[in-house]
Amino acid sequence: MIFIRIGAMADLHFGPDSMKTYSALFKSAGDDVDMIILCGDLTMRGLVEEVRGLVETMGNARVPIVSVLGNHDHESNNQEEIMDILEEAGVKVLERGMYITPDRSVGICGTKGFCGGFAPSKIAPFGERILKMFINETYKEANKVNRALKSMKADFKVVAYHYAPIRETCTGERCEIIPFLGSSILSDPVDTFKASLVLHGHSHNGKEKGSTLMGVPVRNVALPIHNRRYCVYDTESFIPYAASESK
Ligand SMILES: [Fe+2]
Ligand SMILES: [Fe+2]
Repeated sequence: MIFIRIGAMADLHFGPDSMKTYSALFKSAGDDVDMIILCGDLTMRGLVEEVRGLVETMGNARVPIVSVLGNHDHESNNQEEIMDILEEAGVKVLERGMYITPDRSVGICGTKGFCGGFAPSKIAPFGERILKMFINETYKEANKVNRALKSMKADFKVVAYHYAPIRETCTGERCEIIPFLGSSILSDPVDTFKASLVLHGHSHNGKEKGSTLMGVPVRNVALPIHNRRYCVYDTESFIPYAASESK
């Protein structure tokens, strides 16, 4: 198996004053890592001009970039156009299909995910229709990853979400907002198919490291909790995940 260094980040929130910052960031990432994974909230308000500005800075990267969208990228209902612009710039958008390295050593799938809280206090599909619609969105997102992992043929399997699949990496957030930061429903496919690593963002005040019930390592790569630096993960250091991560 060939090991690679993954550069991961989320919550870029690209806006009118971000050009200089991200030009430098993508340039240095191109020197440090073999590929870049973006875990959503690429833009501030989901504006087309914001994502156009962002892809201009990505030209400095020189390594493959894969991405999922975040809730901010849905804010102006431009998500399809945002995905089109990313794809035109050569970014692999995971909502539209998985990414596998040519030697099949690493496979990446993912989607934005959604919220609803964490076991044992997660929302259940019970009662009002609107509540069922809400939590069914989370099940729908988890099912996309379930299908992708089921068919994925790769040695090291990465799942990228925007929302958190576990509560642990949201530690540090105000307890009132934790149900809106993610859902343990998102960790079900990860555990079922024994993914190698899960990356997410959205929790700006959380912590980096955690693991699912089955011991799959989870990393919160939101830029605000990493001094606005991308995280570097060597796939070699996560194998076998159970030996190093399970407690
Ligand atoms: Fe964010
Ligand atoms: Fe977010």
